[in-house]
Amino acid sequence: MIVITGASRGIGKFLFNSFLDSSNEKIIGIYLNTQPTENIEKFMKLDLTDYEQIKLFVDSYAEEMREITLINCAGITYNSFTHKSDPWKWKSVIETNLIGSYNIIRALLPIMREQKFGRIINFSSVVAIKPTPGISSYAASKSALFGLIKSIAIENASLNITINNINLGYSELGMIDMVPDEFRKSIVAQIPSGILCPPEDILNTVKYLRTTRYITGSSIDLNGGLT
Ligand SMILES: NC(=O)c1ccc[n+]([C@@H]2O[C@H](COP(=O)([O-])OP(=O)(O)OC[C@H]3O[C@@H](n4cnc5c(N)ncnc54)[C@H](OP(=O)(O)O)[C@@H]3O)[C@@H](O)[C@H]2O)c1
Repeated sequence: MIVITGASRGIGKFLFNSFLDSSNEKIIGIYLNTQPTENIEKFMKLDLTDYEQIKLFVDSYAEEMREITLINCAGITYNSFTHKSDPWKWKSVIETNLIGSYNIIRALLPIMREQKFGRIINFSSVVAIKPTPGISSYAASKSALFGLIKSIAIENASLNITINNINLGYSELGMIDMVPDEFRKSIVAQIPSGILCPPEDILNTVKYLRTTRYITGSSIDLNGGLT
């Protein structure tokens, strides 16, 4: 079974549709505010920041869950110089990107451990190590995933459960839509490969991590040479 958070938009939506087209596995997409218009029966509306909701969802599907791959695509960002930032908006990024990831991992891990199988793939970001101004909350939330996976990896590696991050650069899909054209051009100009990340490269990296047992606790740079 594949569980994809953030499946209503951007990269998560692309991965959801790709696996739906190419795999017979059961797929559950998780969304919050963007109501999916197709395959609605395969979606669950959940706020990842609310552990109780996540636990109820996992408990209600526990019997059907086999060989789980969790792809954590849900994420938000908040742009503001730190000295002018709204503390509540700043914290909400940590709540979603870090604690939201923890919540669903926490809820699924007991099933993975019981079944002695699990694959967890998180989306971190190049900005954790090469930030642009105004994204301290986002950079903090994404760099925290580094420590999170290192710990979870050693706790679960002997049970054939892997957890890894994809440190994504700038993708053709998703959040880039919020970036004004001029800034977008200046971003692309700095990428050694000269292009935004094609969706297929993200899919290939996810597939690689799903099918590999010996990579765990790793963060894979997928950034066209930016770092
Ligand atoms: N796009 C890039 O260039 C890029 C680069 C580096 C890293 N990343 C990371 O890759 C992941 C996907 O990025 P993206 O650009 O595809 O993002 P996106 O288009 O902005 O989509 C974000 C997704 O997260 C979901 N979400 C947000 N808060 C949630 C919550 N509390 N509970 C449940 N779902 C929630 C949204 O659901 P609703 O719309 O239904 O609320 C949406 O499906 C993110 O973690 C992002 O940080 C992206």
